[in-house]
Amino acid sequence: MELRLSGRVAIVTGSGQGIGKAVAMRLAREGADIVVAEINRETAVATVREIQTLGRRAQAHPVDVGCPAEIQLLVDRTVGQFGCIDILVNVAGIAKTQSFLEMTEDVWDRVVDTNLKGTVFCMQAVGRQMIRQVPPEVAAQGRAGRSYGKIVNFSSISGRHGRSVQMAYAASKAAIISATQSAALAFSPYNINVNAVCPGVVPTPMWEQIDRDRSRLMGAKPGEALKAFIDKVPLQRAGSPEDVAGAVAFLCSADADYITGQTLNVDGGFEMN
Ligand SMILES: NC(=O)c1ccc[n+]([C@@H]2O[C@H](COP(=O)([O-])OP(=O)(O)OC[C@H]3O[C@@H](n4cnc5c(N)ncnc54)[C@H](O)[C@@H]3O)[C@@H](O)[C@H]2O)c1
Repeated sequence: MELRLSGRVAIVTGSGQGIGKAVAMRLAREGADIVVAEINRETAVATVREIQTLGRRAQAHPVDVGCPAEIQLLVDRTVGQFGCIDILVNVAGIAKTQSFLEMTEDVWDRVVDTNLKGTVFCMQAVGRQMIRQVPPEVAAQGRAGRSYGKIVNFSSISGRHGRSVQMAYAASKAAIISATQSAALAFSPYNINVNAVCPGVVPTPMWEQIDRDRSRLMGAKPGEALKAFIDKVPLQRAGSPEDVAGAVAFLCSADADYITGQTLNVDGGFEMN
């Protein structure tokens, strides 16, 4: 595999399992050192061990991305240990499935805090550090050919359309598309690229939970909700975590230096806008 990310330092949030873990492994295979920023200490440590077997440096950092003070600590420790931050991938997210009429304030707050607030304040804290890393002569000229940082956020196909039983999740994922554009504009003078991906249906522990909740809500059998989504995928299969990780690695590489403010569907054609 081509080492497009050799020598880069990447923070990947939510990388203890599922898509985040696949992203961390893919970036490491392409040469990056990885900080596994994850609320679950045990899964974070397990991911770190796997990355180290690839010969890369890796560090587990237990963090709740919904808490800006913890995010700042994550940035400070990463810079203390690795010297810089070149890549941030905001994967951490939670989904709650409930009818809109029964949604509680607590569910709204937890989902929006993790998905949207977490993404926004991770971008702010890491963006400040990336801007500090831009060489002074480049900052003075205002423009340069190469990128001085890559940020990739996680929206969802649920951010492209409303979901009657996932109001908070869909709203948070739609807002991430807007936050991606705003940050791309704010960071463009420093040549820092900010983009997002919308995964489609990817069987992970998150989807296992969604399938259980949808089955209960709609009186369906286990697996039926997942199958109903997969049946609507033009490429006729579910996505894998590695499918999504490949798109993220591209957006983190120099191949994407002229792409910013974009949200890429990685969904087998489920959404086409
Ligand atoms: N699986 C899919 O089909 C799908 C589809 C579209 C979008 N997504 C998005 O992709 C991302 C990853 O999804 P997944 O399916 O791998 O989910 P997952 O539940 O399997 O993994 C999410 C990870 O994030 C961590 N996490 C949760 N809250 C956190 C917090 N506050 N701080 C730090 N870490 C936290 C979890 O511990 C877990 O390791 C999410 O943002 C999700 O919304 C997933």
